[in-house]
Amino acid sequence: MECMNKNTNTKAAIVTGASSGIGCAVSQKLCALGYEVFGFGRDFSKTKWHETDKIHPIVCDVLDTAQLCAHVRQIAAQHSVHVLVNNAGVGYYGLHEELSPDKIKRLVRTNLETPMILTQQLLRHLKKNAGYIINISSVTAAQSNPHGCAYGATKAGLASFSRSLFDESRKYGVKSITISPDMTQTNLYRNADFREGDDAASYLLPDDVADAVEWILAQRDSVIVTDITLKPQHHRIQRKVNKNCGHQL
Ligand SMILES: NC(=O)c1ccc[n+]([C@@H]2O[C@H](COP(=O)([O-])OP(=O)(O)OC[C@H]3O[C@@H](n4cnc5c(N)ncnc54)[C@H](OP(=O)(O)O)[C@@H]3O)[C@@H](O)[C@H]2O)c1
Repeated sequence: MECMNKNTNTKAAIVTGASSGIGCAVSQKLCALGYEVFGFGRDFSKTKWHETDKIHPIVCDVLDTAQLCAHVRQIAAQHSVHVLVNNAGVGYYGLHEELSPDKIKRLVRTNLETPMILTQQLLRHLKKNAGYIINISSVTAAQSNPHGCAYGATKAGLASFSRSLFDESRKYGVKSITISPDMTQTNLYRNADFREGDDAASYLLPDDVADAVEWILAQRDSVIVTDITLKPQHHRIQRKVNKNCGHQL
């Protein structure tokens, strides 16, 4: 972990899955808003930071619970954590019978278990700071997901957790929020046989989700945006025929 200034009064934010896609955009946004950002990921060699970003990349597999908790405890001991963004996630799709037990475990552990553990580890700090827990769920949480039953279940679980946590912790000043994006142009679908449509109106950009985070944080004290659903104008996905071409579903 990079050397950190213990004397800073800057508010700190922890973002999981900061090495790409939505988590990277959210980290950059929080950095631009003046937060000291600790971004978790396994591989930052692919990450495209802005030159001005001063994000602390924390190389950590979030499924290594002992390592994850040790990092978080160290950050919370030295910094005033005001924001937790539970964003790290994996996507495995297809007929449920074709998913392996290992993939099912990865889905549940990454998308659901890790946010619960991180929240548990940080909740006392976030109560002290009247902070935010922003859970990146998905539109799949509220719909039926053939060819994505397990993925959708993890996102529904996360949304349920976020909703109950809001009721449990609101009296302590904590803001538990769910963001549910639709198809966003990231690498999440690398394991899928479909991808977003070519039309720019058929997908969201990671920055759209980062803008939603900014809007949540801009509300006056005592106003909490508990749920945001973001959808592109058009609903179009394409089957991947090969790497470079596809036809519309
Ligand atoms: N893209 C969409 O259409 C969409 C729609 C709705 C919701 N979401 C949700 O948005 C979140 C971010 O996904 P994305 O679309 O931005 O995809 P992405 O670019 O693949 O990002 C996933 C992030 O999660 C991290 N991650 C995964 N497993 C990890 C592990 N074991 N330990 C540490 N980090 C891990 C990855 O880091 P490393 O690669 O460095 O391990 C990466 O930074 C996910 O929760 C996803 O379900 C996405």
